[in-house]
Amino acid sequence: MSEETPTSVTMEKDGDVAVIIVNNPPVNALSWHVRQGLEDNFAAALSDDSVKAIVLRCAGTTFIAGADISEFGKPPRGPDFNAVLNSIEAASKPVVAAIHGTALGGGLETALVCHYRIAVPSAKLGVPEVKLGLLPGAGGTQRLPRVVGVEAAATMTSTGDPLPAAKAKELGLVDELAGEDSLAADAIAFARAKIADGPRPTRERPVFGDIAVIEQLKTANAKRWRGFEAPYANLACVEAATRLPFDEGLAFEREQFMKLMFGSQSAAQRHIFFAERQAAKIDGLPKDTQLRDIKKVGVIGAGTMGGGISMNFLQKGIPVTIVEMEQEALDRGVGVIRKNYDASAAKGRFKPEQVEQMMGILTPTLSLDDLADCDLIIEAVYENMDVKKDIFGKLDKIAKPGAILASNTSYLDVDEIATATSRPGDVLGMHFFSPANVMKLLEVVRGEKTAPDALATAMAIGKKVGKVAVVAGVCDGFIGNRMLKPRQIEAMNLLMEGATPAQVDKVHVEFGMPMGPFQMSDLAGVDIGWHRDPNRIESIRDALCAEGRWGQKKQAGFYDYDDKRQPSESARVAELIEEFRTKAGTQKREITDQEIIERTLYPMVNEGALILAEGKAQRASDIDVVWIYGYGWPVYRGGPMFWAGLEGTDKIVAALEKHGFEIAPLLKEKAEAKSGF
Ligand code: 3HC
Repeated sequence: MSEETPTSVTMEKDGDVAVIIVNNPPVNALSWHVRQGLEDNFAAALSDDSVKAIVLRCAGTTFIAGADISEFGKPPRGPDFNAVLNSIEAASKPVVAAIHGTALGGGLETALVCHYRIAVPSAKLGVPEVKLGLLPGAGGTQRLPRVVGVEAAATMTSTGDPLPAAKAKELGLVDELAGEDSLAADAIAFARAKIADGPRPTRERPVFGDIAVIEQLKTANAKRWRGFEAPYANLACVEAATRLPFDEGLAFEREQFMKLMFGSQSAAQRHIFFAERQAAKIDGLPKDTQLRDIKKVGVIGAGTMGGGISMNFLQKGIPVTIVEMEQEALDRGVGVIRKNYDASAAKGRFKPEQVEQMMGILTPTLSLDDLADCDLIIEAVYENMDVKKDIFGKLDKIAKPGAILASNTSYLDVDEIATATSRPGDVLGMHFFSPANVMKLLEVVRGEKTAPDALATAMAIGKKVGKVAVVAGVCDGFIGNRMLKPRQIEAMNLLMEGATPAQVDKVHVEFGMPMGPFQMSDLAGVDIGWHRDPNRIESIRDALCAEGRWGQKKQAGFYDYDDKRQPSESARVAELIEEFRTKAGTQKREITDQEIIERTLYPMVNEGALILAEGKAQRASDIDVVWIYGYGWPVYRGGPMFWAGLEGTDKIVAALEKHGFEIAPLLKEKAEAKSGF
């Protein structure tokens, strides 16, 4: 027994079956005291002659959901996890894992050293370590191929996706399904039935299956895994299981695990795991703030944004009333929603009847008056303050008391929009990212007068529809677009000095972004925010727009595009850049990839520091979440503020000073302290 007696694991007896119960809320993670409790209670059950079989079960909503991630990187405490697991596997009495909720990571590895597994039908089993930049480091990569075969083990470890209990049963990962509400009793009966069979140590079972799947997985996921180390390390361990004796395989797994654990990718991915959960917490707001009830949503504007926003709610069974000015635009918008759903149904994501159900709760209308019964109204018309104020003025008269009035503006002043109403406490921003039904980020913009319960409700409804919601303060572009601006400005400046769009984009893609600044501009539309006067040409962008080079939609932007939207470098764009350079008298010079990083990515960190100091983001990790989920910043670099720490804030400041940038005081402070954010 340890000095501090662990209470998170207890044992009770049912005749000749000992039931060991883990109770470590909220997710029964394998904290040091759980490992200690498992060691102590298994030892007790094994030394008790009246015990003939052992059940391992969990209290609360789930089976063990994994190692305690918050212990990673800290000095070790309590017994070694692998040693605990090895001793359970070596037990002289049959051990049964009784699974409900989620058996994940170290949780599934614990179940794998039990000799048998029984699960309720709603349970899910998986090894999601890869999503934390890790691999199952407690024998999972060696035991899974012995239970489910190489194909399933390679897929499970490298993708991290969990299996439903029925599928796990099919694969032999679960031996028996219990009744949904009778796991405790069913597990005891099952364990008793296994007394005659005795233990079945997984390590003694042979590995089976074809390793060809490993190369197939690498090919199929080449794009998705670009830049990531962990999927490949997971596959290497499964491959090792096919050729090494068990203990050597375990040693190989350990070595790979430690490499990942102390590498920067896993540190970044673990940071994001907690950052995402932290983002949901609103500073200064009590946890028990009463939320407003959102039963019906109104969306104004049936364009790309309005349609995408509506789809989020329809998919969760929340009725939407969608408003447009003209019948034709309304029909077109509703048609696009249906087309998108039909396409998803064709891919098997929805059943045709689900599509009908979703379309059945969508009410198209030309009248704002039809929004009178909505609990949340999201305005998604084009970016013009006068238009938005006019709409909010009208909504003020139409919306029911307590309805939340949200604008999907991507940069306008939400406080000014709120002045058009007599209820600024109900007004806030809900900034979705395009395509709004796909992108996970939602910036919830907190106005000066936004009521706490309105804010908390917007955050909660965001989570309900599957978004990662982050609170942002009112400022030009909020968090994400405000940081995008200095990046885009510098990218354009670099063209003037000798870089090409392809060079700048290549550096960003190699860094891990899904696309570079110019590819992004072509995709979004070079003409967004353009003054629309073809005779007023003050920048390279004005020149492109004047020539109709509006991006992919016109098959021409910073790049030329063929019929399949494949880009190629444009001679015309090179000519235009040259013209501007000559006019400005700028010397063309060699631009290094490092300079592109320093001048496009470092200024984002600088802007992030300003945002943080001004309190427009609650915490540095919220900024990281915005960039991961809104713009595809590589998760293995943890977001711009986390990355600044990896890169070295002192190095960033030195480079920014060299290039003549004004340094944010907070960034300077961090650099002087040689710390991250
Ligand atoms: N360690 C420590 N804390 C954890 C945790 C873990 N493994 N899993 C969840 N938590 C915490 C969360 O941070 C959160 O804390 P908060 O309330 O203070 O913000 C709380 O538990 C509840 O988590 P969620 O909000 O995510 O709850 P959900 O009900 O939405 O989801 C879950 C539950 C599916 C279990 C989800 O939390 C999850 O996916 N957890 C991570 C599972 C995982 O990755 N396991 C593998 C860990 S690595 C490992 O096992 C290594 C081994 O191979 C050696």
